[in-house]
Amino acid sequence: MTHFTANSPHARDIASVLHPQTHARRHLETGPTIMTGAEGIYVRDDSGNAFLDAGAGLWCASLGYSNERLAKVAYEAMRTLGYYQIFRHASHGPAIDLSEKLLSIAPVPMSKVLLQCSGSEANDSAVKLVWYHWHAQGRPEKRKIISRRGSYHGSTCVAISLTAKPEYQAGFGLPFDGFLYTDCPHHYRDARPGETEEQFSQRLADALEALILREGPETVAAFWCDPVQGGAGALPPPRGYFRKIQAVLRKYDVLMVADEVICGFGRTGAMWGCQTYGMEPDMISCAKALSAAMQPISALLVNERIFQSVLRQSDRYGAFIHGYTYAGHPVAAAVALETLRIYEEIGLIDHVKAVEPAFLRELGALRDHPLVGDFTGVGLIGGIELVRDKATKENWPEALGLGARVDRIARRNGLILRIVGNRVAFSPPLIITADEIRELARRLRRTLDEVHAELRAL
Ligand SMILES: Cc1ncc(COP(=O)(O)O)c(C=O)c1O
Repeated sequence: MTHFTANSPHARDIASVLHPQTHARRHLETGPTIMTGAEGIYVRDDSGNAFLDAGAGLWCASLGYSNERLAKVAYEAMRTLGYYQIFRHASHGPAIDLSEKLLSIAPVPMSKVLLQCSGSEANDSAVKLVWYHWHAQGRPEKRKIISRRGSYHGSTCVAISLTAKPEYQAGFGLPFDGFLYTDCPHHYRDARPGETEEQFSQRLADALEALILREGPETVAAFWCDPVQGGAGALPPPRGYFRKIQAVLRKYDVLMVADEVICGFGRTGAMWGCQTYGMEPDMISCAKALSAAMQPISALLVNERIFQSVLRQSDRYGAFIHGYTYAGHPVAAAVALETLRIYEEIGLIDHVKAVEPAFLRELGALRDHPLVGDFTGVGLIGGIELVRDKATKENWPEALGLGARVDRIARRNGLILRIVGNRVAFSPPLIITADEIRELARRLRRTLDEVHAELRAL
């Protein structure tokens, strides 16, 4: 850190901040990128560089990076009732209004809403409720949880156990026992020669069934899935996938939990990813665009079946002993409610549907690039596959650090990309216009051209 001026924000950051999902040793050398402001979908760093962040921060800044109307709502909420809790029968208007609103827009009938602060907490709570449910049903041995390889469901100990990525678990002694993983539905990578998407989906559903039978259906409690798999690089499911998976889950009475943390609130061109793919989950976790990322808030929607189990457990144990100090925080809930109002007023879903063709066309056009093997997307989410050889789908050797190269050159071109393995994932702010999508694609093509030239020069 000697190369940073003493007491500069960069030196102070290195001296004081432990950054999530950041290479700690490398950070001592590189220091932070410090963001200082935003205009629309562009963020600005402390040197005045403006970046089009193609990932909307962490898949979340649906309305861009500043919003006067939400600021006013937060200010008023802080003046009126800046905090109160919802434990032990306490409540307040924003928590009630938001819960009611979420139930009214839920993709399938839902009974109650459990509010908390992050997507990880929503998933963590959902795991507890899965276990609570099967206990209530007198089946405590029904406890194992299945998620898909490559998925990301958050960073608490349980959410990381759901997260089927060894690199996220290494060094922590995780996952916990009883978390099982099934196939990632990656048709481009894993389909057999000539296998259609429907056939591939059937093979994955059969593999899930085989796993459930191997483990014993009486021990398998729930299946976790995000409609478009964010952790696998914004991967939409192959045709027929969720229909076939759900048939297996129903056959063995395995609960389905839909993680809508990324997909909820318009991302796939419908209010919920569940609607885009015909999913009928027992619980739905959501966060991020719920408050346009302007306040930390998440929600877990539970159906009547789960709620009946909670009731039964309260007869047995008393209170539902679960909750966080900031659950249903009135400022966050007020901002979330206003966010949902804004979505309705600006016709956000219609907007996503209107720009979806431009998104799919402009990014899909990159399939002709020598570095790009494929592009798949839906609504305003999708990803490209980076390959060394389009015919064989061979990857670039890890030692060449392809992801870091793409990231570095993209930033030089005023573009922030989310690179997940060999995929570049896109989830721009939902207010992005068709012109801005074209600008994104222009910057991306320039970036890929420069990366390609650099690789050829090696
Ligand atoms: C699909 C999915 N689930 C859960 C989470 C965790 O959410 P949070 O970071 O708010 O805890 C994320 C975060 O990116 C996510 O992408």
